[in-house]
This record gives sequence, C-alpha cells and structure tokens, in this order.
Amino acid sequence: MKIKWGVIGCGGIAYRRTIPGMMLSENSELVAVMDTNYEAAQKVKEEFGAKYAFATVEELLKIEEIDAVYIATPVFCHKEQAMAAANAKKHILLEKPMGLSVADSQEIAEYCAKKGVKLGVGLMMRFSAYHQKMKALIADGAIGEVVSMRAQFTCWYPEIPGSWRQDKTKSGGGALMDMGVHCIDLLQYISGLKAKKLTCFAQSQTFNYAVDDSAALLMKMDNGSTAYVDANFNIPDDAAHCRMEFYGTKGSILAEGTIGQEEAGKLELTMSADNGYDAQQNREGNAAHTVEVNAGGNMYEKEISSFANAILNDTVPEITAEDGIFVQKIIETAYAASDNNCVAEI
Ligand SMILES: NC(=O)c1ccc[n+]([C@@H]2O[C@H](COP(=O)([O-])OP(=O)(O)OC[C@H]3O[C@@H](n4cnc5c(N)ncnc54)[C@H](O)[C@@H]3O)[C@@H](O)[C@H]2O)c1
Repeated sequence: MKIKWGVIGCGGIAYRRTIPGMMLSENSELVAVMDTNYEAAQKVKEEFGAKYAFATVEELLKIEEIDAVYIATPVFCHKEQAMAAANAKKHILLEKPMGLSVADSQEIAEYCAKKGVKLGVGLMMRFSAYHQKMKALIADGAIGEVVSMRAQFTCWYPEIPGSWRQDKTKSGGGALMDMGVHCIDLLQYISGLKAKKLTCFAQSQTFNYAVDDSAALLMKMDNGSTAYVDANFNIPDDAAHCRMEFYGTKGSILAEGTIGQEEAGKLELTMSADNGYDAQQNREGNAAHTVEVNAGGNMYEKEISSFANAILNDTVPEITAEDGIFVQKIIETAYAASDNNCVAEI
C-alpha cells in the first residue's frame, strides 16, 4: 500500500530534492501539488506526473484520496497551512523550522494532536548514513564520553530583493534559524545529549538585511559537555567545509561535507590507545582512519518513506514535533541571549 501525497509549495527544496526523493520512495505516490505560483505547480505536475496542480491550499485539501501533505513553503505560511491540513485530516510532514516561533510550533503540534493527524518535521539530515554511523560509533563508546562537539553549516546568501528568508517577519531569523537548525538537531541526535543552557552571538556582519548572516551558538549539554554551532550566510560556497566534530575521553570523530542535501562527505575516527598522562602531549600513534560508510542513498527518499511508514503502521514519526519544537526553543533562546548579551537556560 502507498501513501498518497499532496505537496504544498513547489519551490526550491520541494522541486530540487523532496519530490525527486518521493519518486524513489516505494511506499509513496505523488498525487497533487500546489503553489501560489500556479506555473511552478503545473511544471512540477508535468515533470513528476502528478494528477492535479492547484494555486490554492483549499483545492488541494479537498482531494479525498490524499493521505498526507508535505509543506515546503516560506516559514510564515507553515502555521496556517498545517492547521488547514490538520482540519482536513491529512497527516503532515512539515519543513524546518516548524514555525516563526516556539509558540506557533506548539500550536501546530497541539492542533494536529487534537485532530488526530501525524506531524513530522523535515530534519532529514538525521537519515544520512554518515550521521547514523556517527551516532552508532558514539553509542558504542568509540570515543568515550563526549566532552566537546561542533557543527558548522554555511552558504553564500547576499541581499536578494523580495527574499522571504531575509525578512524576519517571514523567516523568523537568518542563518541560525535556516541552517543552524540542522546543526543543533544533529549534534543532539548524534551524541544523544540535550542542550541545557546557551549563549550566542548572532548578527548581520556582511550583508545589509535584518536577519543574522553570522551566528555562533555555544551550548552546555546535559552531561556537562559543550557544543558549538556556527551558521553563516556570508561564507562562499566553494570555501565551505560544513564540518562536524565530536571529541570524547577516548577519541574523536571528524566529519566533513556530511551536512548538506546529499548523502556524501567523509568521516574520520581517531581512537586513543591509552589515557596515560604524557607531559609531551605526544600525538603520534593517534592517526585518524577513514570510516567506510555505506552511503549514496537519498535522505529525502528516506524522509518520505519513513513518514509514510509511520502512517501505514500507525507508529510515531521518526522525527517528531517535539524534536522540532525543542530545536526551535534553542534557537529562540539563542536569539534572546544574543540580544541581551547573556547566558540563558533553555
Ligand atoms: N530540509 C532541507 O533540506 C531544506 C532545504 C531548503 C529549504 N527548506 C525549508 O523548506 C521551506 C521552503 O524553502 P525553499 O527554499 O523551498 O523556499 P523557496 O522560496 O525556494 O520556495 C517556496 C515556494 O513556496 C511558494 N509559496 C510562497 N507562498 C506560498 C503560499 N502561501 N502557499 C503555497 N506556496 C507558496 C513559492 O511560490 C515557492 O515556489 C522552508 O521552510 C525552508 O526552511 C528545507
């Protein structure tokens, strides 16, 4: 049996990644698409063989055979569209960040629960084989107890007139909200740790827009370790490394290029031979070795299949509304800490 999908918002990520991923999913079928830009919806309908293309959410939600919607519109549209979909009894896979604020995201989650529809969040980087491998290594104790970690996600995003991401009322924030969201989620997911308090510097350093083009977030985790996230809109794409680093009492894991839209990158593991004190701080013998990962899959296909499975088997989605809300709580607290120059409890 296949889950029949409607897609709300056929722009960047839906067209480039998620709908192509849906095409690969064995338990999913694209039925209808909508975009306020009707031409975009029609183009997607033709290219991917959907039955219907619409310019309004209402028309799409009237299609009885649709089981679930994937919402990939600008963030300020999420709440109204998710609540309309819940009202129409459609399950919802909602792109990150869930809403403009924690309050909005909670409202969406409560409404979906009330209406009895499943709600999943598009933090699809959890499905990367690299990230799964790192999670397994840490859970197996390969680096001992985690003491320090870092995740970095950047792009080049100059001023673009009319861009919703550069308008705080439409995006809720800049680099931290848009890109940092994945870093925060991955650090917690991979390490199995949870942030307790934080401080942050978020500002527009390079570009002339009202959201942050640079954000540095420092979190204290529930095991006492620290986690650093840097998210930037002002680093050229060809200079980006998108690194993740985990350091523990017995070793370290470095990942390069795994944070992104493709299941790709490189993973290195260093395991320490012994923990004897060495005044020379000798680093010989601790050569990193490349970890082989069975990669080359499609994270968006896995995301769609996973959510469809949760509907088909009536189980909790792998990435829940609570996951999305907690990440959003961190981001909201981080912006407040940055504005107030303080350390804040989450
Ligand atoms: N998980 C990921 O890899 C990933 C990557 C990029 C973006 N995103 C998220 O996806 C969402 C969309 O981002 P994007 O980059 O695709 O944006 P985009 O601007 O490229 O596309 C948005 C689309 O929505 C349409 N739209 C605008 N208002 C609408 C409305 N009221 N109803 C229906 N359609 C409307 C636009 O015409 C456009 O086609 C955001 O939440 C973003 O954070 C996720």
